[in-house]
Formats: sequence, C-alpha cells, structure tokens
Amino acid sequence: MRKFLLAFLLLFFAIKSEARYNTLLIPDTLSGTTFNLVAKDTIKQFFPGNQTVTAGINGNWWGPTMIFNKGDVVHINLTNKLQDSTTMHWHGMHLPAVMDGGPHQIIPPSTVWQPYWQVTNNAGFYWFHPHLHEMTEEQVNSGLGGLIIVRDAVESALPLPRKYGIDDIPLALTDRKFDASNQLVLDAPYGDSMMVNGTLRAQYNVPAQVVRLRILNGATERSYNLGFSDNRTFYVITTDGGLLNAPVPVTRYLLSSGERIEVLVSFNGQTGQSVNLMAYNSTLPAVIPGGDIFPQGTPFYNYLARKDFNILKLNVTAQTSNPITSIPSTLTTNVFPSEGSVNATRVVTLSDTTIGGPGAGPTFILNHKFFQFNYNDYNVPLNNTEIWQLTSTSTFSHPFHIHDVEFHILTRNGAAPPSYEAGWKDVVLVKPGETVRFITKFDDYADSLHPFMFHCHIALHEDLGMMGQFVVKNPSVGIVEGSTPVQQHAMYSIYPNPAYNKLFFNDGGTNNGIYYVRITNTLGKTMYMLPKPELQNGIDISGLPVGVYFAQVIFDKTFEKADCLLKFTK
Ligand code: C2O
Ligand code: CU
Ligand code: CU
Repeated sequence: MRKFLLAFLLLFFAIKSEARYNTLLIPDTLSGTTFNLVAKDTIKQFFPGNQTVTAGINGNWWGPTMIFNKGDVVHINLTNKLQDSTTMHWHGMHLPAVMDGGPHQIIPPSTVWQPYWQVTNNAGFYWFHPHLHEMTEEQVNSGLGGLIIVRDAVESALPLPRKYGIDDIPLALTDRKFDASNQLVLDAPYGDSMMVNGTLRAQYNVPAQVVRLRILNGATERSYNLGFSDNRTFYVITTDGGLLNAPVPVTRYLLSSGERIEVLVSFNGQTGQSVNLMAYNSTLPAVIPGGDIFPQGTPFYNYLARKDFNILKLNVTAQTSNPITSIPSTLTTNVFPSEGSVNATRVVTLSDTTIGGPGAGPTFILNHKFFQFNYNDYNVPLNNTEIWQLTSTSTFSHPFHIHDVEFHILTRNGAAPPSYEAGWKDVVLVKPGETVRFITKFDDYADSLHPFMFHCHIALHEDLGMMGQFVVKNPSVGIVEGSTPVQQHAMYSIYPNPAYNKLFFNDGGTNNGIYYVRITNTLGKTMYMLPKPELQNGIDISGLPVGVYFAQVIFDKTFEKADCLLKFTK
C-alpha cells in the first residue's frame, strides 16, 4: 500500500511538473588534438530538495563533446578520480584494440590513461562511455559519457548546418530512475524520467531554418521511436558511421541503445511555433525494449513503458544570418566492401538461456555462452572482408554492436535494408527470429593479444555476459594457435634520473614492441598507464608529485607476462 501511494505521488508530480520546462543543456566542446577528461563523482541539482549523487566527466553529469578532424592524431588524458576502476570506450572509433577502452583497458582509481590514435572515421556522430565488465550499466547510469563529432573534407563541403548549439544540436537521449530521496537507481534498466543531455523536461530554441539534430540513444536499455508531435517529415543524413548517400525522409525512426542518427528538420517560416520531439513508444511491441510493460514493484517497472512521451520541446525563433534553408538532395557516395571479396562468413547466434550466468536467472547469450575474459571467439585475419550473420532465436530484441569497424547491412530476413539503415553502422537491432547479415572489412590494427568486443548494447545484457570478443591477426606474423609467442627483450634504460618534466627511454635502438609503460609509486599504485607511448618524445611526468617511482615496460608479445621495472626519482 505504501509503495502504491508513493507511486501515485510520483505519478502526480511527474504529471504536475510536465508543464515546467528546463533549458536544454548543450555540452561544452573540446577541440584540438589533446583532450583532457576527468571522470569523477559529483552532485547535481535535478529536483528541488535533495541533490543527486552523480558522476560526470569535467562536470557534474555526462561530459564534453570532443570534436575530431579526420586524419588528426588525437591524444586523450583520461584521469580517473572516481572511487572505482573504470574504462572509457570510444564507441564507433576505428583504432588499435589497446586504445579502445573496452573491458580489458582498466583504469584504476587515481590514475591517468593516455590512449591515442589517428582518426580515420568518416565525419559523423560518435560517443564515449565506460565499459567496465559487469559495471557498465551502473557507471553509464551514474552519468558518465560524452559525445564525439568527427569532421572531414567530404562533410565540410556540403551545405549542412554546423553551428554547434545553434543550428547543429547534439541530443544525448537517456532515461533514468530516481528514488524517493532523488538518488539515481543505478541498476535500473529503465527510467521513469526522460532526459536530454542530462536535462529533465528539456526545451530549446531553434532558428526558423533547417536545423541539424545529432541524436544518440545513450539509454542503457530503452529504444525510442522518434517522431515529431505534428508528424512532420525529417531527413536522416547520417547513421552510426557517417553520411548516407542521400537524405532519407521519414516520420518515425526507431533508435536503439548505442545507435546515432543525424537528421535535418525544416523550421522555415515557423517563427513563434513550437513542436515536440517525441518517443512514440505506445506502438512498440513488447519484444522491443521500451514496449514491454512490467508489474509495479518489479525492477523493470517504469513509468515510460509503452507510452508516447515528450523528449524535447522545440520553440522556433528568428533566423540566424547565413541560414541553411534547404535539404540537400545528395550527400556522398559510400563504397561498401563487395560480397565478391568476402573471405569468411561468421554465424553469431543470439539466444535466451535459463542457465544462471554470472548474474543468475534467465538472461541472454551470444554464441551459446556467457562472456569470459579469456575466451576468444574469433581470430580475424588482417584484411579479411567478412559477412557476419546475426541469427536470433531470442524472445527479445537486442541492439548488436561490434567494436573496431563500421559495417554495412546486406539483408534483414533476406531483404535489403531500408534506405535509412543502408549506410555505415556499428549497432543494429536484431528482433526475435530475425537474421541480419552485414559486411565489413578488418583492414588495420592487427594485434593477436588484445581483443575487440561485440555485444548486445543493452547494458544489463552485456553486463550479464551477452558479449564476445575477437582478435585481428596478421597472418604474416605466423603465430601458431595456442603457442606462447617468442619473447624478444630489448635492453631498456631510462634517463635522466632524477627526472623532472620528462622521462626518456633508451631502447637500445630497437624501438619496438612496447605496449604499455606503467608508472607506479613505491606502494605499487598505478600513477600512469601509457599505451604505446611515443618514446622519442619522452614521457610527460610533470604531473607526478616528488617521490620515488618505477617505470614498468610491458612488451607487446608478453603482455601480462614479462616486463622490466626501472626505478627513478623525481
Ligand atoms: Cu558503446 Cu562496446 O560499446
Ligand atoms: Cu563500441
Ligand atoms: Cu540484449
């Protein structure tokens, strides 16, 4: 009865407060080639009364939008000031596995992780989020994550809106559950409150012209069946991995966890009017995340289940100078790998299981098993073009995601995909009984020891083990399956010692095979973890307090096995 009353009160407040809108928060941008990100626990005033304990990156919720230029080498300094370990994954980025920030690249508390890579992705809308195994749902729900915009010459030449926050608006869609004392329920798969960029009941002003909305489904489970309250047509211009060949007009778009689209919406001549971006989830069947209704008092119960609800109110204001007022008719010419060049077809199964896994109870699995850190599903030869055939016997839908590559959907149940998902993708919703075939090429970053992940992007399913992994192998290296790779140690030394701002490595002229340099203090605490440091430039240690340290050199082919410890003082 108490629960019922509480639910009634919450419902009452949810309805009562619907009329009050908050201005949409637009995340700050970071650009250049060095990006400093600090993840930490903090607090945010979501509601009157109690503040909410959250986590954020460079702030109190979510994180900044990083703007990358294709071709640049970007360096990230990710400082973990959380109480717990975390990882940070650059979702959609094509990069070396050791920089990927998947569950293997753990960042202990009070340490800095410094991945870097050359941006080779097409212009588009990507994102980053924690990926610590069995903790992804909680850490994402706590507010950690951020957006990435990649720019390139092809996209820059098009007449598209790109005034960030004015006619080019990033929208990170999530929903969250709060308890009666305004605290986040971190293990709730579904929320009761919709938020955009961390703003509850968001509204925003848009100019009376063509506006670009970059939309991420950053929810841990729910899909959003997007549309406008006046049923207006909007134009999809990108999917996960970049531009479509041409804008595709739609009135609805089902966006699942991890997926992104960029859309163009015309507000020409509509000054003074308002329209709502909505989730038309009342039409979703129970097998789509968000379409299922759960009994009150159960962990999956949520106020938004199978309802139409408001995401963002848009108020049309005056035109800007140099407005974009038309929708281009073409965008780019995508060249996808051809089926004639396929070297391998892999069948990936999505299914239900009643066997209790790490989380116990019925759940969902890939390839008939739960994720294990030391089990590698596939060895993918470098330069392979492959078809991955996703076959679902599951009773629920799962947004399948693969790291490392963007793919092109060939067929959904034997039919060509609709044009709005016929571009580059890295997440695809696989419905019960469906078979989805996609093609992709693994053309870089061979590394036989560091895997890339593939998994269901519903964070709870992934945490419970609906995940697998693969390595990209260079066949010319000739590693025999199961053999222990030969260890080739160079003689390393460091200078100067004591060191001040930079620490240099003398590698005996070999300059190969360093995977990580880890700096630890005398208590063994990790201070820095530097994947593939550029040794010729020295390692920046200016942030280290005065003291005694060890530099630990971890070699490519002997990761976790052999290393050398070099003592230095600062
Ligand atoms: Cu966005 Cu492996 O995840
Ligand atoms: Cu990813
Ligand atoms: Cu799933």
